[in-house]
Amino acid sequence: MSKTVLDDLKNLAAKTLSHASAMPKEIYTSNEILELEQEQIFSKEWICVGRETEIPKVGDFFTFQLGNQPIIILRDREQKVKAISNVCLHRMMQIVEGKGNKKTFTCPYHAWTYNLDGNLVMAKFMDRTECFDKKSLKLPQIKCEIFLGWIYVSLNENIQSVSDTLSNLYEVVSPYRMENYIDIISEEHVWNTNWKILTENFMEGYHLPVAHQGTVGPYFNVLDTEFDDRGAFDGFTYQTFTKNEDALVGTAHHRNNSLTGKWRHTSVLPTIFPSHMYSLAPDHLWYLSLQPNGTDKVNIKFGAAIAPEVLEDQDDPEQFLDETRKFLHHVQEEDRFVVEGIYKGVCSPLSNPGPLSWLERENHEFTQYIAKKLAN
Ligand code: FES
Ligand SMILES: [Fe+2]
Repeated sequence: MSKTVLDDLKNLAAKTLSHASAMPKEIYTSNEILELEQEQIFSKEWICVGRETEIPKVGDFFTFQLGNQPIIILRDREQKVKAISNVCLHRMMQIVEGKGNKKTFTCPYHAWTYNLDGNLVMAKFMDRTECFDKKSLKLPQIKCEIFLGWIYVSLNENIQSVSDTLSNLYEVVSPYRMENYIDIISEEHVWNTNWKILTENFMEGYHLPVAHQGTVGPYFNVLDTEFDDRGAFDGFTYQTFTKNEDALVGTAHHRNNSLTGKWRHTSVLPTIFPSHMYSLAPDHLWYLSLQPNGTDKVNIKFGAAIAPEVLEDQDDPEQFLDETRKFLHHVQEEDRFVVEGIYKGVCSPLSNPGPLSWLERENHEFTQYIAKKLAN
């Protein structure tokens, strides 16, 4: 079955945008496709686990499920961010859950204990075990790289570095200094849709005036959308939205001296393939990082952060944060309504993918990325 679907996908990817439609339905619903995605995409690419600012101090950590591999992201004694396997070297129990600050990690099963480098430092009652050599035991390290404050991990030992893959994006987003933005939301959610439907939803502003009429829609003119003339790059694509200079949200604070000209009121929306996307404005950002959880569920890491000068200027920062969080959650709920509705539509017998608008240019670029990874 997948063979024909993959042929259809390949044919679709070869079309120009003006002849393109959404991807074939089976790309979203087939378990074979999901397996192929896990193998060709999620085990091989960089996956974003969050922001470096979530673990500012030595010993700060949080856990993350990377495909089938539980991992710990931590800041080690040299202040470096690191990712290590969260599976005990004894009888393979998961070592730790949640987040916090620790000097060592002790397995909840028989108390084998590991330091921040992942070295086994204590294991009781192993003195009669001849094949046991404490010094040689260390939790496997997972490839981990920081790029402008984002933490990326990969199960692929030979992957090209993030900074090389995203060098063209660096030029566009580095003047925002987003690595200094202050975290205000960091959450995990599971929604009832395929991960690609949520990615595609992020990639187009076409739905904003309609699906987001209760929040951002009224302030958004679709004709303010711009794409990079160079098209999609190998590892990412993006679009920009430029607002009026006097808009209340989405513009640079007067103390912001790194953005100039139209960039002072422009937002950049990159999608870093396969599934890290963020909306970066001069005064705030919000982001999603996705992984499939079956064909019909998506694991979401959702977060937001505010430019420090904007936060400093609030008379009542608590109220400001409260309102901002509520607003961003409301936007998310509007998106959840559509992406869960689309999954139901995709599963229905009478549905068919329809033609794309020029505003859905990135969706077609995403089709081309998926085709390259699955159908080559
Ligand atoms: S499984 Fe971790 S100490 Fe036994
Ligand atoms: Fe949306």
